[in-house]
Amino acid sequence: MDGATIAKAVKDLFDVETTVNLTVPAAEFGDYATNIALQLAGRLKQNPREVAEKLAEALRASGDYSEVSVAGPGFINLRVSARSLARQLEDNWNEHYGENSDGAGKTVVVEYPSPNMAKPYSVGHLRSGNQGWAAKRLMEATGWKVITDNHLGDYGAPFGIWVTGFLKFSSNAKLKKGGVYELGRVYIATRKALKDEAAVGGHELADEVQNWLLKLEQGDEEAAHYSEMFNEISLKHIHEVMGRLRISTEYELGEAFFAPRGKAAVQELLDKGVAKQNDDGSVIVPLDDYGFDVPLLVQKSNGAALYATTDLATLLYREQEWQPEKVIYAVGAEQQFYFAQLAALAKKLGLKLELVHLWFGAIDQLNEDGTREKMSSRKGVVLMEELLNEAEKRASEVVRGREVSDEDVKRIALGAIKFSDFAADRRTNILFDWDNIFALTGFSGPYVQYAAVRVNRILSLAGKAAVEMSDDYDYAPEKALIVKLLEYPKIVRLAANELEPHKIAGFLYELARELNRYYEATPVATNNVTDLEKQARLGLLQKVSHVFDHGLSLLGIEVPSAM
Ligand code: ARG
Repeated sequence: MDGATIAKAVKDLFDVETTVNLTVPAAEFGDYATNIALQLAGRLKQNPREVAEKLAEALRASGDYSEVSVAGPGFINLRVSARSLARQLEDNWNEHYGENSDGAGKTVVVEYPSPNMAKPYSVGHLRSGNQGWAAKRLMEATGWKVITDNHLGDYGAPFGIWVTGFLKFSSNAKLKKGGVYELGRVYIATRKALKDEAAVGGHELADEVQNWLLKLEQGDEEAAHYSEMFNEISLKHIHEVMGRLRISTEYELGEAFFAPRGKAAVQELLDKGVAKQNDDGSVIVPLDDYGFDVPLLVQKSNGAALYATTDLATLLYREQEWQPEKVIYAVGAEQQFYFAQLAALAKKLGLKLELVHLWFGAIDQLNEDGTREKMSSRKGVVLMEELLNEAEKRASEVVRGREVSDEDVKRIALGAIKFSDFAADRRTNILFDWDNIFALTGFSGPYVQYAAVRVNRILSLAGKAAVEMSDDYDYAPEKALIVKLLEYPKIVRLAANELEPHKIAGFLYELARELNRYYEATPVATNNVTDLEKQARLGLLQKVSHVFDHGLSLLGIEVPSAM
């Protein structure tokens, strides 16, 4: 149902061009409602209630509605017959139901999960993967050409720290055994040693770190050997974890790829007069004309590249390679200031692409006394692999005693973890509470997955090929479900436009609830339903099944085959 026919009535009656948004009120008021009369009243300088009455009159005369009523100061409530809603659903139906082509001809780069090489994959990059993947899927569903890139943190200091620490605190045997976890341990131990050394005024270790970095830059063979070995271990681990999370990217151009391009990029800024070189050789871009007191540092005094240097080079590269309309960075809230500066820099450079910082809040954990605290190693799980292991353990507990494959257990584990990321607006912190995220009765991934599995089971028992909605049936018990399904394309559009995938999660949860209410009241394929009823109901459930599948896939969640 959309507001186009009402907009037409408004035009005919009042000669005003407008778009009309329909909302879905509580069922006792009607199927749809609009406040358009209240909006028009001011413009027309008429009493809103009278505007509403005039419009209601015209809508009644159109014959499109079974009931039109005016309520309160001028709300219009509408009822439509379930049969005509069913017809509408069938008319709009195709295998891409929910999708649109708003982004046709436009390109977007989406960047996630962008972990850092020095340490094992931590929960610190969980939300980037979840939100970034959902952004990718939403942009695809709205017709954009999507390029995905894993902007690895693979440049600079870690390398020097790794070699120095490896030679001092580790061995080939330990590395072979511990892999990336050994590298992480070495990294942390070496950082600590460097700190201790600095505290007593020493610099031997620090010099060694610099020395290895220099050697690598100069193409020293031994340094190259270490670099390759460490990167391989780290990258393999990153790919394993991404594989378990079922996320991937098309490109993987990390900071190390862009760092060498930084020099030229900085030179370009200097040539254009956008950047200024300080006496010590460092280069800054003043952004006071964009409302920032703090300039952006794009080159250190020793000429070395910084985080911002690599991002500058990345922007120029993307512009040149792909001419995207948008670049979406799925990165946490703590980098908001930085990305605001980067966006200002892009404007100052005259780049036409829009930078979107898809930021999100932290992951909180519950303390024993019930208070919340940011998830940290002190408080328990922070390693992504441990989190996944624990989730799989919990998922198998959920389905204990039933015949569920390992593959389905993994789907349920991921469903729980990912859905919790979309429990609220991404900007709020999420609370990671094992009991809640697996609760089969509340707002959880497994709750929605279970609803989808149940529909699929009914459908497969009935063994029906695709069934169309029937004009001979009145769809009275199915009305609320049909209204819900008709909302879906609007929800997808909204979620994509605002990059708010939690709207999809909220919708799917409501659909699951509606479905459970429906089953309680209505038998679908039992002996005492007529053939017509059975056909019609199965036909509708096929559509429900499709929307679960589609909506969950926008969130990177799969429907288990059993649970
Ligand atoms: N590796 C960075 C981090 O973990 C995130 C990279 C974000 N992307 C970017 N283009 N700066 O903090």
